[in-house]
Amino acid sequence: MKYPKEYLDEIKTRLKVSTVVSKSVVLKKKGKEFVGLSPFKNEKTPSFTVNDEKEFYHCFATAEHGNIFDFIMKMQNLKFGESVKYLANLAGMQPYQFSKLDQEREQKFKEYLSVYSQYVNFYHEELLKNENYAYVRDYLKKRSLNIDQVRKFKIGYVEKNSRIYEKLKQKFNEQILFETGLFYLDDKKKIYIERFKGRLIFPINNILGQPIALGGRIIENKDYLAKYINSPETTFFKKGSNLYNLDFARKLSNKLDHIYLVEGYMDVIGLSKNGIENVVANLGTSLTDQQILILNQFFGDIIICFDGDESGYKAAVRAAENSIKELKPEKQISFLFLPDKEDPDSFVNKNGKNYFIDFTKNNKISIHQFIFSHYKKQTENNPSSLAVFEKKLRSIVNTIKDNFIKKYVLEYFLEKISELTPYSNQNKKTFYIKKTKSLELTKKYYNESQFITSMELKEFSLIYLIISNLKLFQANIHLIENIKLFTKVNKQIFETIISELKTGILVNTETLNLDPELLKKIYKFAPIKHILKNKPNDDHIILELLEDISRDLINFDLELRIQELESKFSKDLSEVTFNQLKELKKKQNIN
Ligand code: UTP
Ligand code: MN
Repeated sequence: MKYPKEYLDEIKTRLKVSTVVSKSVVLKKKGKEFVGLSPFKNEKTPSFTVNDEKEFYHCFATAEHGNIFDFIMKMQNLKFGESVKYLANLAGMQPYQFSKLDQEREQKFKEYLSVYSQYVNFYHEELLKNENYAYVRDYLKKRSLNIDQVRKFKIGYVEKNSRIYEKLKQKFNEQILFETGLFYLDDKKKIYIERFKGRLIFPINNILGQPIALGGRIIENKDYLAKYINSPETTFFKKGSNLYNLDFARKLSNKLDHIYLVEGYMDVIGLSKNGIENVVANLGTSLTDQQILILNQFFGDIIICFDGDESGYKAAVRAAENSIKELKPEKQISFLFLPDKEDPDSFVNKNGKNYFIDFTKNNKISIHQFIFSHYKKQTENNPSSLAVFEKKLRSIVNTIKDNFIKKYVLEYFLEKISELTPYSNQNKKTFYIKKTKSLELTKKYYNESQFITSMELKEFSLIYLIISNLKLFQANIHLIENIKLFTKVNKQIFETIISELKTGILVNTETLNLDPELLKKIYKFAPIKHILKNKPNDDHIILELLEDISRDLINFDLELRIQELESKFSKDLSEVTFNQLKELKKKQNIN
């Protein structure tokens, strides 16, 4: 049985080659491609390349190449059908259920594509050439759209008294023509009418660049007609799983990590005209999970930039609540709000590319910041309103699928809420300060009441161990010179000792010239002296003790840095911070 092309294409849409390959090969980005060590050959210099844009891998060592299905078949020694099942599962799709209708359906899809491409090409050429369409070209000029955009987006114009139906009927049957949604039946007259007559048409392509639907705009002001209409949903076109311009924009994902998501066709075209081509539009419906997932396949940061009016703002709120569910640690969703009455098209035309990009950098806010500020605006400073506010935020957090993100977004919200309610959170706050600002506090306690933290005690032990074994450590300076201390005074002593030892001149405790008061404290409190008392004076044992102490100090350091990063991550949710955090946690586990 043959898998329908549609199904296989959908798998390819959802999975980049680099995503699939990187499960078994470590890939490094190099220009437009990725390189790595060939999984098919034992090699030291990488000769294996992956190109997401062209959708294939190539191994220069073995001359093997292919797409994701070939790769899985080869790597896991699977048959084609099994590799499809494996990848469909990876892509989050249901296994394909074969039926007798498949072949019919596939044949129908071919015809459907063929109707659309003929229709689109025909009206595109007409718009470019037909003498009667001067007024349409004037309209385009008025909107400062030039021929490059008309060509690039294959814009067309459907005449009012078109005869294309008759022409298409010679090649295709009535059923398929009806199914494209390009025509509808006038019940009274019993004839097929063109849905897009008198409209500019914008082809909506599938990921492979084949037109599967249209958007159409009227060019005359007629109140009784909708400004824009789309093709109806058909067997082969589902609004929620397509995006305008995705076929083109996804190819930029090798160069750019972010994508603009806008409302309208004209926004895409306007930005593109100004040199911002990493842009897609959702198709006049609210943003779906699936659209987010598709964009995330290609881009790390989705910047949602709707119109600067009330309906744009409302759409943004809906999009935020819908898409936060899909937020992943290594991905970001941001929002960009334009000044009142502007949409991306008008704004970029007025201000140009560089201004738009700077504006984005300075004004985009992350999804959780947006959600917080949106609901905060509606909250009054009284207990019941605040309670509703917190409840709402918690319920939004609960929809987040990724547990890691869930935890940190909740933390972010609660932290921000606690700023609004300083009294009820006093306990939490002092606890927080104690944890992150321990150095300052420690010093104070130390002076005032001889309170010594466990970290300082460790440092005392380290210094004690060194000054009791100066000769040994002078010979093994490399074992101690990179150890990091935290308390200011101990750090100073430690640095003095190291630099003295490094001179190579034989030193003793007196020549070190250390502050006698501090020395006294160290001798008094260093816990290690009790351990050393019961051990033979053996270099091996001393070095083992050193190792224990320095491991503990490294862990203190890690713990502090993890705390810092966790609080940073809860604010920026950035991939870089997340990866640093992951690295540190890994190290902590090793230690
Ligand atoms: P807008 O009304 O913001 O249009 O609708 P626009 O992009 O600014 O277009 P111009 O500049 O007036 O030509 C944004 C999107 O909402 C959908 C369309 O997808 C449109 O691109 N829409 C709008 C409809 O589906 N129907 C409508 O009647 C209007
Ligand atoms: Mn608009």
